[in-house]
Amino acid sequence: MRFAILADIHYSSRATPAGSRRCDLSDLLLLRAVHRLNRFLRPDAVVLLGDLINDGSGPWADQELRRLRRMIDLLDAPVIALPGNHDPRPERFYGTTPQPPPTLDCGGVRFASFLDEERPGYNAERSAADLARLRGEANRTPGPLVCLQHVPLFPPGLHSCPCNYTNASDVIGACQTAGVSLVVSGHYHRGIPLLAHDGVRYLAAPALCEAPFRFLIVDIQGDTVQVEEHALAMPAEFGLVDTHVHTPLAYPKFRSCPLV
Ligand SMILES: [Fe+2]
Ligand SMILES: [Fe+2]
Repeated sequence: MRFAILADIHYSSRATPAGSRRCDLSDLLLLRAVHRLNRFLRPDAVVLLGDLINDGSGPWADQELRRLRRMIDLLDAPVIALPGNHDPRPERFYGTTPQPPPTLDCGGVRFASFLDEERPGYNAERSAADLARLRGEANRTPGPLVCLQHVPLFPPGLHSCPCNYTNASDVIGACQTAGVSLVVSGHYHRGIPLLAHDGVRYLAAPALCEAPFRFLIVDIQGDTVQVEEHALAMPAEFGLVDTHVHTPLAYPKFRSCPLV
């Protein structure tokens, strides 16, 4: 079973501060990723791991989510979209973006999604009810169980990422009880490569909105998990920037138009 992970799109239709986030380009980056997925990579599912837009409290948030929805709808595979801390609250977010069920079985893999409360310092906390829900997944499926959330969940000390769950040890314990194969997060724009600890693997996807505009493909089969990173930027060793544009000559419809 193969699934794609796109995280931290941070789209904005308005001018955004200079910095590494290309909020102004990220709708186009998403569209490019969608076409690459449909045409070449053909995942069985696509996971969008939060921070779809940059300012969920802004007056244009719904309009921006609607724009992304049109691109998401082009995907040929089922989509699991979770809101991040930059998106509107879930009740508003899912007014525009398709809402997945709490668990989704797809291609023999069971995806369990969690919408956790944010905590100071860009951390999160899983509620007692959701910890119980996670533990209750034990032995529900013979195939791999994949746990999805926005904020990185990983065993403290195994990575230098400053964000985690305030109750990480409880969540990790629940993952072990449930027999989770893989924990997948976003939020930390650099990403966290695959880590393994006490039978559970942990992964955070890099941000699509920051060069080199990466997303991940995960192939999961039984106990085997393989992660492949894809980038939409030109390979750095080429020393090239893709700035191509289409003139009217590229389109038969316009070929009779005079050049101006
Ligand atoms: Fe983000
Ligand atoms: Fe975030």
